[in-house]
Amino acid sequence: MIKLIKRVSVISIIMAVVFMVIQVVSDLYLPTLTSNIINNGVATGDIDYIWKTGFYMIGFSLISIIAALGNTYFATRESQKLGQKLRSDIYQKVENFSSRSFDKFGTASLITRTTNDVNQIQMVTQMFLRMMINAPITLIGASFLAYQKDAQLTRIFLVVIPIMLVLVGGIMYFAVPLFKSMQKKTDRLNLVFREGLTGVRVIRAFDKTDYEANRFDEANKDYTHTAIKVNTIVALMMPLMTLIMSGTNIAITWFGGHYIAEMTLEVGNLIAFMTYAMQILISFMMLSMIFVMVPRAQASADRINEVLNEEDEILDPKTPATLSLQGDQATLTFDHVAYRYQGAEKLALEDIDFQAKSGDFVAIIGGTGSGKTTLVNLLPRLYDVESGAIKINGINIAEITQHNLREVVGFVPQKAVLFSGTIRENMKYGKPDATDEEIWQALEIAQAKDFVSELADGLDSRVEQGGGNFSGGQRQRLAIARALVKQADVYVFDDSFSALDFKTDANLRAALKRDMQDSIMVVVAQRVSTVMDADTILVLDEGQLVGKGTHESLMADNETYQEIVSSQLREEDLA
Ligand SMILES: Nc1ncnc2c1ncn2[C@@H]1O[C@H](COP(=O)(O)OP(=O)(O)OP(=O)(O)O)[C@@H](O)[C@H]1O
Ligand SMILES: [Mg+2]
Repeated sequence: MIKLIKRVSVISIIMAVVFMVIQVVSDLYLPTLTSNIINNGVATGDIDYIWKTGFYMIGFSLISIIAALGNTYFATRESQKLGQKLRSDIYQKVENFSSRSFDKFGTASLITRTTNDVNQIQMVTQMFLRMMINAPITLIGASFLAYQKDAQLTRIFLVVIPIMLVLVGGIMYFAVPLFKSMQKKTDRLNLVFREGLTGVRVIRAFDKTDYEANRFDEANKDYTHTAIKVNTIVALMMPLMTLIMSGTNIAITWFGGHYIAEMTLEVGNLIAFMTYAMQILISFMMLSMIFVMVPRAQASADRINEVLNEEDEILDPKTPATLSLQGDQATLTFDHVAYRYQGAEKLALEDIDFQAKSGDFVAIIGGTGSGKTTLVNLLPRLYDVESGAIKINGINIAEITQHNLREVVGFVPQKAVLFSGTIRENMKYGKPDATDEEIWQALEIAQAKDFVSELADGLDSRVEQGGGNFSGGQRQRLAIARALVKQADVYVFDDSFSALDFKTDANLRAALKRDMQDSIMVVVAQRVSTVMDADTILVLDEGQLVGKGTHESLMADNETYQEIVSSQLREEDLA
């Protein structure tokens, strides 16, 4: 946790501490003034003394209030800032996560860690700056002053403090493990809730609403049970503390009364002693709260550190080479590339070897699960190759920065994702200074010009979260256009034409061939009609490159390709 809290500014901590010390000293001094006013003023009828001491008391009260305000200000400001810093650190870290790290944590848990866990740290930091300093100073100061006021009465604490220690220890023993398990249950709750929200259509279509509601109910109940237990334990603390305080007061009054009768104690000292006793007990309570909060926050801190310490798998080289756009001179080489998913025994890709140059249309075809997506994901380095090398314009992509690489590669993932905003904003994603003319040109190639220009607001039309207000095929075309707006040497389309009808698919390919002659197109497809007129067709089967050539050559001698073609022709015959 200390590692996380290091983000707080030292000056602010010092300010908070200074204000706190001023407040504690004033608070400690006030009961002494009270006893003075009673012993020296009231008892002797010295009005002047009463006035003078009264003014002092008002003065110290004011100082105490101002100091408390100052302390709260710095404590609150710093803890909020710490939360902000932690959230942005986590966000930046996660944005650079490899796909494997994402799988490891899961989206729901990452969200809990950024919100709930950061809140815990924030809260404990604020408490720390408010109480952690206050409680020990008050405890020591008040004990010392109480002892000075009357040594005999301090013996009461010999009984009270052990009782308090047992109580606080007991609460910690039961509450801390529960607090830790609550964090896990929050994760679970978020996971189920998230799945329910994103899958709401599927859930309805499968008539699984009740099932999902039950699943959520279970997670919800589980969480609530633990929360109730924890809160019951913590709530018990308050009345027990009040009981102890009242008991202490009675004891002080009882013994104090006797001492006064025996003339061994002054009234003012008794009153001051009582106040100090309360201060001591309240500090104890504060300390016990801190002891409950700290382990809980420690659990949160561990969870945050897990994210922040996750090792970057895809690293930039220390002395990167520079890859510049080559236009019509671009080349792409896969040099005996192999890839294996983390923990998998089998290679997901084996000995993939091919070349392409500007203007080439490289198609990748193969059954589902044959490794097509895996292959193209290696190009923008979403994963790193296990052996072999990928070279663009003669330079190994592992030897340049990821930023540089992504300037040269335009990528349309299998699942088209748009961001909320306007169409124009989405189109400018890869090239912030793109002009409307460039955008329209890209939309035209992507066969999206017609439907975008029919929208009432044109380029200013709203895109909702995930592009939900567009059809699957429209979303695909917008995602293609977004990649085209950016000038790239290599464009990758992962099954990006799958939701298009045959005619649009054909028009799109024709436009790409005509207008993007300077670039290399790598197109993953399921349909033979999409790949038929490609310059090179790569046939994948279970991660192996089993065929490489044109449609005609593969038709002549490649069994896998022939099978794919005949299976699709049969389907079309049937249709
Ligand atoms: N994140 C992952 N972790 C482990 N294995 C994976 C992962 N993603 C894919 N695989 C495995 O790698 C193989 C190839 O998957 P890939 O997604 O590349 O297939 P694909 O050819 O794109 O299929 P589709 O046509 O259905 O999109 C599959 O057997 C799959 O189970
Ligand atoms: Mg795929």
